[in-house]
Formats: sequence, structure tokens, C-alpha cells
Amino acid sequence: MDYLRDDLRRTVVRLAANERWYEQRWLGTTIWQLPEDLLRLQEILCEVRPRWVIETGTKFGGSAIFFASLLALLGEEGGGVISIDCHHTDQAREVFARHPLAHRVRAVLEGDAADPAIAARAGECLGTDPGRVLVFLDDDHNRDHVAAELRLYAPLVSLGSYLIVADTVFAELAGTPVVTDNPRYPDPLHSNPRVAVEAFLAARDDFARDDRFHYRGIGNFPDGFLRRIAPEPARSQPTGRNKRLSSAKKPGTSLLSLPTAVTGPSFR
Ligand SMILES: C[S@@+](CC[C@H](N)C(=O)[O-])C[C@H]1O[C@@H](n2cnc3c(N)ncnc32)[C@H](O)[C@@H]1O
Repeated sequence: MDYLRDDLRRTVVRLAANERWYEQRWLGTTIWQLPEDLLRLQEILCEVRPRWVIETGTKFGGSAIFFASLLALLGEEGGGVISIDCHHTDQAREVFARHPLAHRVRAVLEGDAADPAIAARAGECLGTDPGRVLVFLDDDHNRDHVAAELRLYAPLVSLGSYLIVADTVFAELAGTPVVTDNPRYPDPLHSNPRVAVEAFLAARDDFARDDRFHYRGIGNFPDGFLRRIAPEPARSQPTGRNKRLSSAKKPGTSLLSLPTAVTGPSFR
């Protein structure tokens, strides 16, 4: 299997290095995902039929609109997408102000996604009877940040639904031009989403990696598909967040408040 892994690494490096995939669009909105990963996400949403999707990492709004479009196609009503980013881009504001599916992005929260206050805000957006909830983590890919997010967002994931962790392939890119000299990722070999996922799965038994999606094709998160298989963890794990990632800014700062059903999401 080593040659397959090497081949995957070469392919992902080639894709990432030419940076053309950053230009991809979903329904007119720039989306930073590989097509293969979008196919996997679509399969899972079709199977789970979540009412709500919580995502960390809004960027230009592409994945929010992607999830919104799937919820619409699947006929899900009463829920929507909650998108979290530490920095709202002008492009995302534009998308959420004008896109025909923007009304399905019900809230856009600004702050550090690993801040418990932000996770609590996301939880509040779900209301008291949320139905099925799926979570997608795609913001900071450092180990401690992802580990903190896994702890915070796991309780929001419904039984049978998924906690999906993007860019678990990161470790395989260590030492390549893709992650070399990126100050945000000084140690990709040891500080990456896969290490966080492995520690999370080792510490608790209410989630399991879904091997149906593990290394199935050329994707950026081959082993990031975690299915909730029990309502509560039988084994406990430490709580508390990674202080290194504390946001000086007040979490969830309101940028703009809009009646969601008519004009688009509220930025909070
Ligand atoms: C890979 S991009 C997200 C791409 C988007 N999900 C898509 O598919 O188009 C990562 C985003 O995470 C955000 N981010 C980085 N660190 C963060 C943090 N600690 N909390 C929240 N967002 C963060 C960045 O501002 C950036 O917009």
C-alpha cells in the first residue's frame, strides 16, 4: 500500500502546488475543496439527511453554499448552515448578501472556532429540537486547534451523523513545497489534523472512523470521516481549550444583523 500512499501524496502535491483548484466554484461561489471530497460530502449528507450543518472555516462562503444547496436539494426544512470563521471576508459577505441559497446559511459567527463561547453560540443556533446535526471542521489545521474543536463540537453531532475533519492528508504534505515555509504550520508532520483525530478516537468510543470513506480516491481528508456510534462517550476525556488559540477579540462579535429568512444569514 505504500506505493498507493506515495502516489496519493504526489497527486495531492501536484494539485496543491499549481493552486488552480483555489479557483473552483460551486454555484458561482469560490470553494476550497477538491472535487473528490465534495462527492464524499454529498454521499454522507444524502445518507444522513442532516437538518443542520455546522462548519468551521467560511473563507469565501463556498462550502457554506455547497452544504446549503444539498440541504435544499434533499428537501430539508427548518435548519440550515452555521458557518464560523475568525475573519469574515468581503467575498463571503457579498455571497451571503446576494446568493439565491444564502437564506439557508442561517448564521455566520465570527471568532476563534476553538473558543468554547463560539461553539456554545453555534449550539444555541440549533435551538432545543435541532434534529440531525453534522459538523465539518475546516479552519486551522494545527493539532491542538483541531483537538480542541473535536472536544467542543463532538457533543453537537447526532447519533449516526458525522464529524468530518478536513485536511487529514496534511502530514503527507510535510516536507513538500505545499506546506514548507508556511508560518501557520511550522510542524506539519506532528501538528496536523490526523494526529488530533487519532488521539480523539483513542480517548473515546462514541465515534469511529468510517472505513467506507477511508482512502477512497484522491481527497484531502482520507481518514477524517468520523461517525457518531454512541450517544455518550463511555470513556471520559479532559476538557478545556487550547489557550494558545485564545482570541483577543470578543467572540461572536455582531457585524450585521439581518432577518435570516428573507435577506440572508445574520453575521454574529
Ligand atoms: C481552508 S479555508 C476554509 C475553506 C472553506 N471551508 C471552503 O471550502 O471554501 C480556512 C478558513 O479558516 C479560517 N480560520 C483559520 N483559523 C481559524 C480559527 N482559529 N477559527 C475560525 N476560523 C479560522 C480562515 O480565516 C479561513 O477562512
